Amino acid sequence: MHNQHQSLIFEMSKEGRVGYSLPELDVPEVTSTEVLPAEYVRTEAPELPEVSELDIMRHYTALSKRNHGVDSGFYPLGSCTMKYNPKINEYTARIPGFANIHPLQDEETVQGALELMYDLQEHLTEITGMDEVTLQPAAGAHGEWTGLMMIRAYHEANGDTKRTKVIVPDSAHGTNPASATVAGFETVTVKSNEHGLVDLDDLRKVVNEETAALMLTNPNTLGLFEEDILEMAEIVHAAGGKLYYDGANLNAVLSKARPGDMGFDVVHLNLHKTFTGPHGGGGPGSGPVGVKADLIPFLPKPVLVKTESGFTFDYNRPQSIGRVKPFYGNFGINVRAYTYIRSMGPDGLKAVTENAVLNANYMMRRLSEHYDLPFDRHCKHEFVLSGKRQKKLGVRTLDIAKRLLDFGYHPPTIYFPLIVEECMMIEPTETESKETLDAFIDAMIQIAKEVEENPEIVQEAPHTTVVKRLDETLAARKPVLRYQKES
Ligand SMILES: Cc1ncc(COP(=O)(O)O)c(C=O)c1O
Repeated sequence: MHNQHQSLIFEMSKEGRVGYSLPELDVPEVTSTEVLPAEYVRTEAPELPEVSELDIMRHYTALSKRNHGVDSGFYPLGSCTMKYNPKINEYTARIPGFANIHPLQDEETVQGALELMYDLQEHLTEITGMDEVTLQPAAGAHGEWTGLMMIRAYHEANGDTKRTKVIVPDSAHGTNPASATVAGFETVTVKSNEHGLVDLDDLRKVVNEETAALMLTNPNTLGLFEEDILEMAEIVHAAGGKLYYDGANLNAVLSKARPGDMGFDVVHLNLHKTFTGPHGGGGPGSGPVGVKADLIPFLPKPVLVKTESGFTFDYNRPQSIGRVKPFYGNFGINVRAYTYIRSMGPDGLKAVTENAVLNANYMMRRLSEHYDLPFDRHCKHEFVLSGKRQKKLGVRTLDIAKRLLDFGYHPPTIYFPLIVEECMMIEPTETESKETLDAFIDAMIQIAKEVEENPEIVQEAPHTTVVKRLDETLAARKPVLRYQKES
């Protein structure tokens, strides 16, 4: 697998070899010191590899193949909805009228872009059952924080300043308690019951006049739909709290159920998950937030409005929490999401949910014969398995994840949610064929057999990748971002 073109580009360097061809200079040469202050000018030439165009091409192509993406293989990373991102989205995002505009342009010169944003807001309002949507937040967690800041502003506007606590179930996505903390609230955890759902008795105990909101991830991180959602809404509303819906898992309810109809006051969506924005590697994303009417005054400003003379930004919003992002959100991701919604239509979006749920249940059932299934009930778009049985034989879930790399798969999310021992969280998504699901299931079954018959092969995995197990903590704390030739 490893060949000289994969990483040894510095070592391959031959003095005088070049990877470009340019015509003779026919204009006066300008030296660096004529255009830059002397302290910014190099005194020594940088040490760059001297290689041919073909060698550099092979080098970068080889590096690109080391990356695993949804276009190169199955990616069942629970909670991340790594579904196929249709290439028509890329086409529309590159239309010059969208790609080449500048956010400081006069509004009358970008009416088409504003119309797209407005229309997208309308579609998302309809999909979520809310009254208005902002496109400003740049990601899911940013949407959570934005929503919580609006809830905070709402309570403050009502003089209700003792509402300092946000209730978060232990099956929520990890960003929920983090966002609550960053928004200045104290997080109160509510337990799950033996079915993996919010324990209503525990909820009743923690809800009181200090409750600012309940944040609910639905379906929760176990892939389960919160069946008592209406009762939860009643309990929290009766105590004067607001209801926040983490809608990043909307792939499981899209066009079937709407947070607004369940009584929720605020919802965020992850357009880079459910609505096929490409994601991974830290962004850009898009985390629009929808609110019910009583929270509209607090929306981030400016708010895009439709007038008789066209679309315009309204800055006159005295109760707004202010801007949460420079300009108006990640426009390119919003163009992609808009394209997806328009190309799927309502029936297409319904089919997304049906197939996402069907695929997850199919996989869960087949795999439950070989791995422990902590919550044996109908799942939504994802499910969790436990590697407890394998752990008893000396193989950890981490080993199973690493072994999957040898089969060419991205492993599922592991060790999350924390409430399941040796957790594997699998989200196949709707865009995978039955053949792909079966091939992955077969690989998982083979690994389960290896654990019983030949555990070393799993414990020592991966065997086929360029590097074996990395020290992930060290890599995060002390990243080496620049290649250095070994001397
Ligand atoms: C349920 C849930 N909530 C929130 C988030 C946070 O979204 P982001 O990573 O865009 O900040 C995610 C991320 O995948 C998620 O799965």
